[in-house]
Amino acid sequence: MNAFYLLAPIARRLEGKVAIITGGARGLGQTAARQFLKHGAKVVIGDVQDELAHSLCKEIDDESSLSYIHCDITKDSNVETLVNSTLAKHRKLDIMFANAGISSSSEVDTPVFRKEFGFNDEEAVKRFVLDVAPLKGVNLDAEDVAAAAVYLESDEAKYVSVLNLVTDYSTTKNTLMEAIKRKKSSSQSRIKELILIMS
Ligand SMILES: NC(=O)c1ccc[n+]([C@@H]2O[C@H](COP(=O)([O-])OP(=O)(O)OC[C@H]3O[C@@H](n4cnc5c(N)ncnc54)[C@H](O)[C@@H]3O)[C@@H](O)[C@H]2O)c1
Repeated sequence: MNAFYLLAPIARRLEGKVAIITGGARGLGQTAARQFLKHGAKVVIGDVQDELAHSLCKEIDDESSLSYIHCDITKDSNVETLVNSTLAKHRKLDIMFANAGISSSSEVDTPVFRKEFGFNDEEAVKRFVLDVAPLKGVNLDAEDVAAAAVYLESDEAKYVSVLNLVTDYSTTKNTLMEAIKRKKSSSQSRIKELILIMS
């Protein structure tokens, strides 16, 4: 196993916890899966991309810590199987990270983000993400989202939820309005959709 996953106990905020991460085969979910493992959690990924998920499991190469169950979250029976299989394997479930198919109000540069907004230019995507970010001078990336998730699932955050801890993965309507002004293109309808979700 990679030495990266054998950090000193003090750094392992999720030691002994069992987590399901939907959409963990790539993007934000995969980054979260890696961080959860680093912090001592047992992770079960539910996703529809079998090949990607299997190659991640192969790379981590620790069946007791990372496993994969095919799960299409739009099908109740798949989700039931995912939960039941996790309970059968680990005897408990502490964390349910419902990452797949979730809308969010701000943007992190991932393949799905580029596809949705029609970006194919590296510099343009960076500029857009920086422009809409409410916190200036730092670059929001998937590791930041995963770090927030690790904290929220740790015992240190027992009295904290995303309702009272707003990370800058959340943003404001004003910021999105700015985004609309800056990128008047096919992405406009997507941004409006996000504003509706926030309303
Ligand atoms: N990146 C962003 O800025 C951004 C913005 C808004 C919302 N989101 C949401 O956050 C989540 C993760 O985003 P990402 O950028 O990592 O996306 P991504 O497309 O890179 O990863 C999504 C993962 O979810 C899996 N998935 C898709 N449909 C599924 C289904 N029906 N059942 C199970 N798994 C499924 C995919 O196979 C993939 O592994 C997504 O739900 C996305 O809509 C992201």
